[in-house]
Amino acid sequence: MRASDLIRFKQTGQPITMLTAWDALSASLVEDAGADVVLVGDSLAMVSLGHSTTLPVTLEQMLLHTQAVCRGLSKPLAQQPLVITDLPFLSYQCGLDRAVAAAGSLIKQSDAAGVKLEGAEPEVLAVIERLVRTGIPVMGHLGLLPQAVHSLGYRRQARDPRSQERLLQQASELESVGCFAMVLEHVPSELASQVRRHLAIPVIGIGAGDDCDGQVSVTADLLGLTRSQPPFSQSRMDGRGLGVKALSSWLDDQRQHSAPPTTPPAPQEPHC
Ligand code: KIV
Repeated sequence: MRASDLIRFKQTGQPITMLTAWDALSASLVEDAGADVVLVGDSLAMVSLGHSTTLPVTLEQMLLHTQAVCRGLSKPLAQQPLVITDLPFLSYQCGLDRAVAAAGSLIKQSDAAGVKLEGAEPEVLAVIERLVRTGIPVMGHLGLLPQAVHSLGYRRQARDPRSQERLLQQASELESVGCFAMVLEHVPSELASQVRRHLAIPVIGIGAGDDCDGQVSVTADLLGLTRSQPPFSQSRMDGRGLGVKALSSWLDDQRQHSAPPTTPPAPQEPHC
């Protein structure tokens, strides 16, 4: 599957399923679960690297994790999910050439088939246009933008008519500059539905209601592994609880079955 094939899902009404992965193990779970797309999201900065926002993750770290995710996929190539990886904060905002070099390094040195980046400001649109002309498929991302947390926060976006109009306009611009799909995060569901109907490219929602062309979720949230989760994310199991229980029962066993204490041998008299 290529990035551009996702449009067929929209045309035939087949929902697109996308899950995040951050290493080989999580990628193998996502592949076995049957997701269409694996996103190496920069949320790995929080999920895997322990940061409190996505901002600190570097391009080198994204590359390392993207390579690990690709190595974790084991089905025959034709049956593997599409791998899309996030361009981290400041890897695409410092000039077109640097953006191409950043995206190019992810695509060249891993099996990722495209990159995702946030926003639709004129400079970002110029970057997307250039990447697409270079042959790098780009997924857009509007609504809640975790890389803009210091200016927008983590709250629901586009709540008033003016910002909804703006978002609709930006979504069209992402399509015109060549994005093959876009993520729409934490916006009112009526707006997501409007964007979906307005665009030919697929709109993949997260916290944006059911009327999207597909849904994405952070795998660690779904598995209940993270300590705190966004309000729109529902875990499907208590992964932390189960994991801690299994580990502590093993630790208890080891403590019960440990070997009895031994008395150290008495020191030997030296022979003359
Ligand atoms: O980084 C990420 O995990 C994401 C998803 C929330 C879409 O961008």
